[in-house]
Amino acid sequence: MSVTFADAAQVLRPPEDGLGHLRHDRAAELRAEPGSLTVADGRIAAFESDRLAEVRIDARGCALVPGFVDCHTHLPFAGWRAEEYEMKVTGVPYEEIARAGGGIRASARALAAAGDDRVVAQAFGLAAEMLTHGTTAFECKSGYGLSPDAELRALALAERLDAVVGQPTTSTALLAHAVPDGHTADGWMDEVAGLVPRVATGTRASALDLYVETIGFSNEHLARMGELAADHGLDLRAHVEQFNPNRSVPVALAAGARSVDHLSCLHPDDVEPLAAAADCAAVLLPGAEQMGNEATPPARALADAGALCVLATDLNPGTSPIASMPLIIGLAVRRYGWSAREALLAATLNAAWVLRMSDATGSLELGKRGDVLLLDAPIEHVPYRLGHNPVAVVVLGGELTWVRPDAAWRVTR
Ligand code: NIG
Ligand code: FE
Repeated sequence: MSVTFADAAQVLRPPEDGLGHLRHDRAAELRAEPGSLTVADGRIAAFESDRLAEVRIDARGCALVPGFVDCHTHLPFAGWRAEEYEMKVTGVPYEEIARAGGGIRASARALAAAGDDRVVAQAFGLAAEMLTHGTTAFECKSGYGLSPDAELRALALAERLDAVVGQPTTSTALLAHAVPDGHTADGWMDEVAGLVPRVATGTRASALDLYVETIGFSNEHLARMGELAADHGLDLRAHVEQFNPNRSVPVALAAGARSVDHLSCLHPDDVEPLAAAADCAAVLLPGAEQMGNEATPPARALADAGALCVLATDLNPGTSPIASMPLIIGLAVRRYGWSAREALLAATLNAAWVLRMSDATGSLELGKRGDVLLLDAPIEHVPYRLGHNPVAVVVLGGELTWVRPDAAWRVTR
């Protein structure tokens, strides 16, 4: 299929081609200039319109941006936990809900009770919702298994999901999420050490992850997970500094983490080392911050220091039941004092880098996969119209995949 977008008000492009990522002190160099774009045979073929294209899209007044990459989700999961949210807004802390058997354990019970088809169907519906909000690639995680077999099942379900959704996905094995009943954290990590070789050879997981927190795992476990990842050729991701300051970032950097995620309680002394790290992204999750009334990470300082900043939904039934990247961008700009360019960079190219997808997608460059969004207004409107879905058209892998009903007049076939 060939699709041409004609006469957009803005085409968001990186300052140069071939960048695997772009540090946030250079975000202002992203260009947003008037132009056109043509996608053919699945790839971005030209930055001009093509009269002969099979589909012509009138892009006047609109922005063209790369598809969003959601590099931190907990898909697939079973059911929701709305009752916990009602408790949280009245002031009951997440840790207390978790200790009382709610939280991750409640989702583990729900996953165990749900049949495979039901789990995949729920995640499929969410992937479709994500697509209509512009997400053209995403990460899946295990973590609601809490036993070796159930973690392997979750990874198998993620693989089934990958086979049925339009978006490319990756899988992360979040093997240390909550301490399973009947185990100590140390004892569970011994089981994890035995499980990792099976994950590495028998699943499509490309990364390991863990949750460092007073109710979860420690910095020593983080270091150990880093060794396991290195031994098995997997990336290391880590949930750190979400509710309490644990000074996990230096440990994660020493362990070679590809990303550190959350960072609400990041210590000021850890901003510079994280920003200076050659290959570790700061994945910020403003949806979880908002829903959990968490502290705001030092995101302005991270960006100014030139960190590799990334935004994601953290889509999960507990801390962030949010599937929309435009909403995440809006929350980030409000909470962090970021520009629309900074937030879009964090939601596209740098997010693709975390998933090792940035050679293929994440920016509008000739030859990259045709993952292109038509936004119904200039990019500055994405954070400004909080709660509005600005995505009018999604081209995924070169195929016209979603047209918002009110934008149908723009499309001529
Ligand atoms: O990223 N904090 C740990 N993990 C998830 C929450 C999981 C849950 O509450 O179900 C997170 O916030
Ligand atoms: Fe998470």
